[in-house]
Amino acid sequence: MILSGKELSELVKKQISECCGSFARRFSRKPCLAVVLVGDNPASLTYVRSKKKACEELGIAHLDVSFENTISQDELLSCIAGLNSDPSVDGILVQMPLPSHVDELAVTEAISPEKDVDGFHPQNIGKLLLGQKSLVACTPKGILRILDHYEIKTAGKKVCIMGRSNIVGKPMAALLMQKGRDATVTICHSRTPDVASCTREADIVIAAVGHVNALTADMVKEGAVVIDVGINRVPDSSKKSGFALKGDVDYDAVSLKASAITPVPGGVGPMTIAMLMENTLTAACRREGIEPEDLDCGCGKSCCGGC
Ligand code: GUN
Repeated sequence: MILSGKELSELVKKQISECCGSFARRFSRKPCLAVVLVGDNPASLTYVRSKKKACEELGIAHLDVSFENTISQDELLSCIAGLNSDPSVDGILVQMPLPSHVDELAVTEAISPEKDVDGFHPQNIGKLLLGQKSLVACTPKGILRILDHYEIKTAGKKVCIMGRSNIVGKPMAALLMQKGRDATVTICHSRTPDVASCTREADIVIAAVGHVNALTADMVKEGAVVIDVGINRVPDSSKKSGFALKGDVDYDAVSLKASAITPVPGGVGPMTIAMLMENTLTAACRREGIEPEDLDCGCGKSCCGGC
C-alpha cells in the first residue's frame, strides 16, 4: 500500500479551509501566519513558497519577512519580539536552517509559545513529552495523521525511529510513547552500533536521517510499515531543475518488502505543510479563547483535533 500524504493532505486542507472560513466569519478576520526567511538557501526558498501558497489556498493571511544572510542575531530577535507583540499575527514560522552566526535555539526560544506553530519551543516540546495540550511539531503530527488515515495501529507495535533531531525524531518518539498511541519506541542515531538490528525488529520504521539509502531492503522485516521523512536533493541532469528529490529509503527495493510505504515526493512533505496550516488555525483559535473544535465549521472531522 502506498501511503499518499499528497492525497491525504488535500483532504485535510479542505477541512482546514472550511474551519478557516468559519473562523473568519466568527472573528471578522483570517488567521495570520508570519513567515520569516533569512538568506537564499534554495530549499528554504522552495519550502517557504509552498507554505505561503498553502496559506492562500486555505484562507490564511501571511505576513512575509525576509532578511539577508548577514542579519545579526539581535536584529532577528527584535523582529521576532515585534511579531510576538503584533496582535494581528497568530503564528510565527522562522524557516530553518539559519546562518551559522545565528543561534537557532535562541531564535526558537524567542518565539512566543502561543505563536510557535512549528512546535519547536522548549515549552511546547516539554508539554508534548508530558502529554499536555500544546502546539505539536508538524512533521511528526503529519506522520500520525497518515497512520490514522490508513488505519495503521501503533498500540503494542515496535517502532524504530532513525534520527534524533529535535524537529522529527525526538517529538515523534514522544508522541508514539503516549498513552493511547502505546508504541514501544527505539531511536537509532549516528552512534548506534548496529542500526539494522533495530530496524529489522520493527513493525514500523520511520527514517529521518537526511541521506539517501539510509534504509535498504535488508534492514526491513517483511510486512513492515515504512515512513520516509527524507527530502534529499540528488543531481539529475534529466530534470529541468538539475536535481531530483529522494527520500532516506531505497524505495524500489524496500517497497517490495514493506506492507505500506510513503513515497518521496508525495508522502510526509505535503502533510507537514497541512499540519502547519492546522497549527496556525489552532493558534488563532486559542488566541480568541476557543479551541478549533468549537468552530462548528461542519467540516465533519476532528480536523484541528489533535494528537
Ligand atoms: N526546515 C526544515 N523543516 C522545517 C520546519 O518544519 N520548520 C521550519 N521552520 N524550518 C524547517
